[in-house]
Amino acid sequence: MSIKMAAEHARWPAKDDPIFTIAGKAKEAETLYGKENVINSTLGALMDDEGVLVAFESVYDVFKGLPNQEIAGYAAIPGMPDFLDAVVDVFFAEYKPEAYIRAIATPGGTGAVKHSIWNYTNVGDEILTSDWFWTPYQTIAEEGGRSIVTYPLFGGDGKFNLEGFKSRFKEIINKQKRLLTIINTPAHNPTGYSVSDEEWDSIIELLKSEAEDQEKRIIVLVDAAYIDFAGKGDERRAFFAKFSNLPPNIFIIAGFSASKGFTMYGLRNGAAIGISSEKEIVDEFFSACLHSGRANWSNGTRGAMTTVAKIMQNKVLYERYVEEKDYYKQVLRKRADAFVESANVIGLELVPYRDGFFISIPCKNPFEVSKLLIEKHIFVVPLAKGLRFAVCSVSEEKCKKAPQIIKEVMDQF
Ligand SMILES: Cc1ncc(COP(=O)(O)O)c(C=O)c1O
Repeated sequence: MSIKMAAEHARWPAKDDPIFTIAGKAKEAETLYGKENVINSTLGALMDDEGVLVAFESVYDVFKGLPNQEIAGYAAIPGMPDFLDAVVDVFFAEYKPEAYIRAIATPGGTGAVKHSIWNYTNVGDEILTSDWFWTPYQTIAEEGGRSIVTYPLFGGDGKFNLEGFKSRFKEIINKQKRLLTIINTPAHNPTGYSVSDEEWDSIIELLKSEAEDQEKRIIVLVDAAYIDFAGKGDERRAFFAKFSNLPPNIFIIAGFSASKGFTMYGLRNGAAIGISSEKEIVDEFFSACLHSGRANWSNGTRGAMTTVAKIMQNKVLYERYVEEKDYYKQVLRKRADAFVESANVIGLELVPYRDGFFISIPCKNPFEVSKLLIEKHIFVVPLAKGLRFAVCSVSEEKCKKAPQIIKEVMDQF
């Protein structure tokens, strides 16, 4: 019998990442049967119609034009100052809340999740999010001895389930007195749902009423990893202005990711942004995150930060970047429209979609359905509550075709 060398808390079952596993199978099928005969909707990265990763020229021309030292050098531990200023500008656009705001660099939006969970919950705490959620929340929570609990994301009317959220929220905060809730919006992964401005009003009303008990500590992580591909112009950022003048025991952390918005997936660039009506609270946030950043990843990617800063500081570079991003936003919108329209015509039920990279299909036997779909050369990700179709990585033509095949397979069960 082999002995266990890993410390007790570090013994996790050996399992492959299910998304990367199925993506690998899709690649094999593309080699065997030809790309045109395979629908690979697995990875959450924007691909062109030939399935090649989109890397914005407006970003990589700047990156590759940097002096080698600017790419090779260490970044400042909290992030390069001009990058942090740029993040606040690009993230809030004209909807910057009236509040104290401090940003700190993280390796991607994942770092903002890690900071929030580690620094704003205690060991053994429950963290609240919706039942459709990005599984790394659980991985990060479990690693630190916390757990994820959920509420059903949708009410009967297909809108945000405020009642479900409220009852779980009250239940947990009455027990813990401190609650971190993660709201992944706009363009939620995996459903593509975006919490509306009116829904935000109701959420904030609830938070404020709970905050009347001064003992309570309410922390909301707004995971906005896909915000650059949501809505028209900056309309999906309007809710940020609602985080103005909140009671001091409500603290908002926004997760910024350069992975999708600047196509910097592998460069690991992002930020956590703290928003509070009190300066001491954002300063405390900064110190806490600075410490855990040092303890986990030391610092981020200097060249990636400098690239974002340069683009934001130069009108010509910025306009070129916006033009390129808007072009792909349109491409994505057309693909999603094609998928939703086809699904509606044939009566394939979808989870309400608003924006972004993914559309989900509720399904009772997602793993069996996904297996059968693979036989038809369609690769979708099976999740606990359904199938995730990544419109970001599939051409409009294939997005139009896929719902029919998916429905045929689901009807066999
Ligand atoms: C819901 C959600 N949050 C955060 C992220 C963070 O990604 P990254 O660390 O690459 O910026 C992702 C990426 O897939 C995501 O899907």
